[in-house]
Amino acid sequence: MTQASKLEITPLEDQPFGCLVSLPGYCDNDPLKLNEEDFKTLFNAVHTHLVVVVKDQAKLSPKSQYELTKMFDPTIPEPKQEGFAGYGHGKEFRHEQSVLRKDGTTVKSQPQVQILGQGTFEANEPGNENGEAISLTHPSHTTFHHTPLSEDEIKNQHKTRFYRWHIDSALYDLLPPVVTTLLGIKVPPATEMQTISYEDSDEELKLALGATCFFSGQQAFDRLSEEEKQFALNTTVEYPPHPYIFISPAGATSDGITMVSEGKELAFDKMPEWEPEKIKRLPMVWTNPVTHKHHLQVHGCCLYKLHTKCPDGSIKTLGLEDARKKVHSMIRPAISPSRVLAHAWSEGDLVLFYNRGVLHSVTGELKGVKNGNDEKRLMHQCNIASGIEPVVVQ
Ligand SMILES: [Fe+2]
Repeated sequence: MTQASKLEITPLEDQPFGCLVSLPGYCDNDPLKLNEEDFKTLFNAVHTHLVVVVKDQAKLSPKSQYELTKMFDPTIPEPKQEGFAGYGHGKEFRHEQSVLRKDGTTVKSQPQVQILGQGTFEANEPGNENGEAISLTHPSHTTFHHTPLSEDEIKNQHKTRFYRWHIDSALYDLLPPVVTTLLGIKVPPATEMQTISYEDSDEELKLALGATCFFSGQQAFDRLSEEEKQFALNTTVEYPPHPYIFISPAGATSDGITMVSEGKELAFDKMPEWEPEKIKRLPMVWTNPVTHKHHLQVHGCCLYKLHTKCPDGSIKTLGLEDARKKVHSMIRPAISPSRVLAHAWSEGDLVLFYNRGVLHSVTGELKGVKNGNDEKRLMHQCNIASGIEPVVVQ
């Protein structure tokens, strides 16, 4: 294969957005060696195409992945001490009451990099440099959705769900990371397919087993009615303290957009200690600093209230149940099959996505689907809380 002297960008075929990037020859396949001009091209590609795929990166070390991720956000503070909570979720990630608790383990030598996947990996298997066996559990909608698929639908009809549409973020104390990088080191064959059926229409999305799905926050904003756009532009989303603990007793809607409202959320006085000043109130629309386009960026599962500034200057607030209904109605059209980028993983794929410009979801049932056995998977994920707030520029 001849390699070009500059970074090359190819939009993904038959997908609503996203691009493939090939590294220039002088990099020796190491994205950290990009010169200033080519890194700028990559930076702009991530902000413009929102999801960028770089092939053949299985050997990228956790240290390099961390350094690459950090390059997208100069406001990320340097780690100061052991156990520094500056990565995507900090301490929120592993709390025993949190819905995120089983979602991964940490690379010992580079704690900002998480190991995600399914199955047991012995010490020194590719992707496990921790010096001991690790056991990973792929998040399945069966433990998060209010009414999951039946065993027959999963094992015989090969169905799956969008697990949870989200922005990578603690949504308490820490600010949302700008970019997330995901490296597929061991993945099931992309030739195996599963299907997502939509409960409220006869649409279907066929996708490779374990595909990571994205929708563009910009496309989601663009398709809103004029009235909805004004609502979105003037609304602040309030998240509860420890959002992933707050929602843990509740179940998600079958499309993974929000939670079913049954009053099951954990009462604030039953939560681990929290501080009012760490509560997050973020605009519903975040303006892309490169394209200056508006992105609808709201975490429908974790939200608590919506506060909307009316034309007369007064503030109208929607409580939990109404806020969920409103956000669901705004996001639902954005997850129709033609608007979803379902990335089918090949080993060595490095996916960089603009976490402040897309929402994404895990899909795929990996347990007991291969003649009763589990599919194995191992990925490295890195995202680090930013030092700056996302803003809407009116
Ligand atoms: Fe994520």
